[in-house]
Amino acid sequence: MDRTYNIAVIPGDGTGPEVIAEGLKVLQAVSCTHGFRLNLQRFDLGAKRYKKTGETVSHETIESIRTNDAIYLGAIGDPEVPPGILEKGVLLRLRFELDQYINLRPIKLYPGVDIPIKNKGCEDIDFVVVRENTEGLYAGAGGIIRRGTPHEVAVQESISTRMGVERCIKYAFEICKQRDRAKKLTLCGKTNVLTYTFDLWERTLKEVSKSYPDIQTDYMHVDALCMWMIKNPEWFDVIVTENMFGDIITDLGAVLQGGIGMAAGGNLNPQGVSMFEPIGGSAPKYTGKNVINPIGAILAAQLMLETLGESSAAQMIEQGVVKVLEHDMQGTGAGTMGVSTSQVGDLIVEFIEQASK
Ligand code: IPM
Ligand code: MN
Repeated sequence: MDRTYNIAVIPGDGTGPEVIAEGLKVLQAVSCTHGFRLNLQRFDLGAKRYKKTGETVSHETIESIRTNDAIYLGAIGDPEVPPGILEKGVLLRLRFELDQYINLRPIKLYPGVDIPIKNKGCEDIDFVVVRENTEGLYAGAGGIIRRGTPHEVAVQESISTRMGVERCIKYAFEICKQRDRAKKLTLCGKTNVLTYTFDLWERTLKEVSKSYPDIQTDYMHVDALCMWMIKNPEWFDVIVTENMFGDIITDLGAVLQGGIGMAAGGNLNPQGVSMFEPIGGSAPKYTGKNVINPIGAILAAQLMLETLGESSAAQMIEQGVVKVLEHDMQGTGAGTMGVSTSQVGDLIVEFIEQASK
């Protein structure tokens, strides 16, 4: 079997290229120890290109990215470009065009990581959020009329389709079945106000649940879930939710992991090309300082290998992360690590090389 993987690499903006460089180091190391090849193709999408050419991403580029086995992305966003242009023009465009309908965001606390929540440890914090990734408020439905006048009207509608909701919920049940935890799926919604959207979500969940008799289902309003996630994170195994709620609760979830620099996500199209990224942004104020935490990007690489079927290499990366967190890093926030961005990558590579001797 040919184990060569074609990976589209989009380092992107701000600290994106710095964290991706560390992820690539680690990927290179496990590809050697585990006997597969990575064929990397770089795409310089993001602020620089936009400022120079006025283009976010062309149809041809998307088609070229599409031919790869996976996409490895740093971050998109720049303070000099008005908000929305790059985010919608590059990141959301890729998610939508490649129909990456799941955003899978693991929330896992590793040993040696300090968090601001008292009396909760690694055994309490290990769940995943399955965020619907192509619909809801992100669908871009709506508009603004009479802009800038006293009579202006802005409408931004949330779209949920039966097909979109159902495939997301099915995926969440499948992930729950595979995980070795409580076998509990929690729907995060707002049935008391968003009575149309979550009527559809609730009914769909109920129907799909009939095929998964061994999985317990649960429901929480999003506001209450924010509270419980911090107070009793051990209650959660898999959370499934719509796009915007998923965006918000996973930044909160990052706090349970040691901060946004620790969090990774996969934009998945189980039938197509998936894209893996650290969920922290481009962090412009830390750019070029070699202080940003690259672990989120390294864990995104781990998730990518897992998805490509290279489980044992993925596991090796995770072990390296655990080792470095426990023994080499003082903190997980930018500038508090006690080691530099590039040292984190080097230390994990060192671990991988030692471990496979
Ligand atoms: C994320 C980000 C994006 C989102 C932004 C950059 C468009 O916050 O991946 O969570 O809202 O999905
Ligand atoms: Mn977000």
